[in-house]
Amino acid sequence: MIQVNFITASGDKVTAEAEEGFSLLEVGQAAGMPLEGTCEGQMACSTCHVIVDPEWFARLPEAGEEEEDMLDLAAGVQRTSRLSCQIALTGDLDGLEVRIPAESHDLQGV
Ligand code: FES
Repeated sequence: MIQVNFITASGDKVTAEAEEGFSLLEVGQAAGMPLEGTCEGQMACSTCHVIVDPEWFARLPEAGEEEEDMLDLAAGVQRTSRLSCQIALTGDLDGLEVRIPAESHDLQGV
């Protein structure tokens, strides 16, 4: 089993267990994270966007051009942003930590 840590927009840590081969999006959804993943991994939306912990970011396979283009459209993108549907879990990623971006409407009430 691979463990993945999600940090919610409000700062809570949620640890999920996953089997190798699942995408980070699937695991996040199963753990109740608010990742819409509208296009189900077709790289046609950006609602599966997560912000990867910088230490882990360097260990992930690089994003392809299509993924980079989609990320340009995602809300709240950061340097270590990735599309979670494009991250396939392997044993190497055991302990991976990603943050769920704050949704834009959360900022309006501040
Ligand atoms: Fe649409 Fe990832 S689910 S780009």
